Amino acid sequence: MKKYLLLLLLISLYVANGYNSISDYILHHHRSIRLPDADLSFMGIVAENGYPIEEHFATTHDGYILRLFRIPYGINGNGSSTTTRRPVLLQHGLLDSSITWIINLPSQSLAYILADQGYDVWMGNNRGNVYSTNHTTLSVKSKEFWQFSYDEMGIYDLPTMIDYIIKETGFTQVPYVGHSEGTMQAWIAYLKDQDFSSKVPLFMALGPVGNVTHITNNALRALAELKIDDLFKIFGFNRFLPSPELLRFLFIDFCTECDICCADVVEWICGPHKGAFNNTRMPLVSGHEPGGTSIKNIQHFAQGVSKKQFQMFDYGLVGNILKYDSDHPPIYDLSKFPTNVKVALFSGTLDELADPVDVQQLFSTLPKESIINWSIIHNYAHLDYVWALDANQLIYPQIIEYLHNFSNN
Ligand SMILES: *[C@@H]1O[C@H](CO)[C@@H](O)[C@H](O)[C@H]1NC(C)=O
Ligand SMILES: *[C@@H]1O[C@H](CO)[C@@H](O)[C@H](O)[C@H]1NC(C)=O
Ligand SMILES: *[C@@H]1O[C@H](CO)[C@@H](O)[C@H](O)[C@H]1NC(C)=O
Ligand SMILES: *[C@@H]1O[C@H](CO)[C@@H](O)[C@H](O)[C@H]1NC(C)=O
Ligand SMILES: *[C@@H]1O[C@H](CO)[C@@H](O)[C@H](O)[C@H]1NC(C)=O
Ligand SMILES: *[C@@H]1O[C@H](CO)[C@@H](O)[C@H](O)[C@H]1NC(C)=O
Repeated sequence: MKKYLLLLLLISLYVANGYNSISDYILHHHRSIRLPDADLSFMGIVAENGYPIEEHFATTHDGYILRLFRIPYGINGNGSSTTTRRPVLLQHGLLDSSITWIINLPSQSLAYILADQGYDVWMGNNRGNVYSTNHTTLSVKSKEFWQFSYDEMGIYDLPTMIDYIIKETGFTQVPYVGHSEGTMQAWIAYLKDQDFSSKVPLFMALGPVGNVTHITNNALRALAELKIDDLFKIFGFNRFLPSPELLRFLFIDFCTECDICCADVVEWICGPHKGAFNNTRMPLVSGHEPGGTSIKNIQHFAQGVSKKQFQMFDYGLVGNILKYDSDHPPIYDLSKFPTNVKVALFSGTLDELADPVDVQQLFSTLPKESIINWSIIHNYAHLDYVWALDANQLIYPQIIEYLHNFSNN
């Protein structure tokens, strides 16, 4: 039954892709009642909370223009005068964006907390999400723009953002906090880019994902089991959320009408949400989520589930030979992870994407000398590391301690 719901969702997205007027219609005819915050932009929300906020653009070697947000220091100018403000980069997960780091109140959200601790907080946005839909030569409406998956986010986006921060701040090292897909792209960057480990000596991995063999998440399982490849051929490699506005409209209006069915569908796609969560802020969430990505990226995740391997995108026999000179896509071998990097893993007992069994395997594959600690948070699910109201007690103090002890800046 739910498989068909997903199919319906995909088809409606496909239809919406062909009819941009649907989102135009929605934008014109639906001005829902929301929290005041919900209508503010990212920068508006941060500014409203009394923090300084900047917007930056970094261009990758393959032409994608990525938007980074920066909270350079804390509230009321705390830490603004010091010349030793240390940079840190926070990177969002699949279908998400930098909004995830400021989704709660300042005392509860990691970005503000680190800024108040004297850090220069940078938040990245991967190619193809709502904040990073520009390219030096490709149009966002072209198929070519959407030809990417998390391979490119690891090979191009993350190193580009780190280099940009190094250039802007004059520091030589940038510690990193990644959530979900933000951890996958980091594993890839460390394995593929020889210089990355000396620039990013500390990596805090929230809901770490490598192999997704034991994933229990319904949506990705369903995608993997649907033999979705044919469906993707019909869709073409395009934008997964052709009109984020349409989805927001669905979230806001439909969820107001029937919050139970909505919660059900959202939980089915994102996994359950077990931690204490501030439901009053749901309109703000609806106003900014989901962040969007490419269909090819979703397909790459589905491949991870069906092929049971953390590997590069599988183009099929002929495609692989053309692209990789091998009939199989190259595997990301985490036993080769650089030993001069310090990694802290944070996982949850109820996480459907970073499943406890897969994280156990990840933990045993990584070189022992790299791992500072593996914290297992009881009853945490995949979004709780960033959205739960008690993450500021269960996780962020450890992050602050690691930043303090394990970075040379
Ligand atoms: C100001 O920043 C320092 C660290 O730079 C921190 O210890 C202190 O708690 C901060 N004060 C406030 C009011 O946030
Ligand atoms: C995209 O980037 C180009 C080159 O930097 C810039 O001229 C253009 O204004 C940007 N377009 C949008 C919609 O941001
Ligand atoms: C929940 O969010 C609302 C709206 O931003 C805020 O007024 C309230 O204090 C928050 N509650 C908690 C427990 O953080
Ligand atoms: C992924 O699973 C394969 C097959 O079980 C295993 O050989 C490999 O070490 C795993 N990789 C990671 C990163 O856990
Ligand atoms: C390491 O993880 C354990 C298990 O979650 C936790 O109890 C402990 O506080 C962590 N150690 C440090 C130094 O953060
Ligand atoms: C961090 O350094 C302090 C002071 O040296 C020490 O007490 C603490 O155990 C260290 N924490 C970790 C996780 O290494």
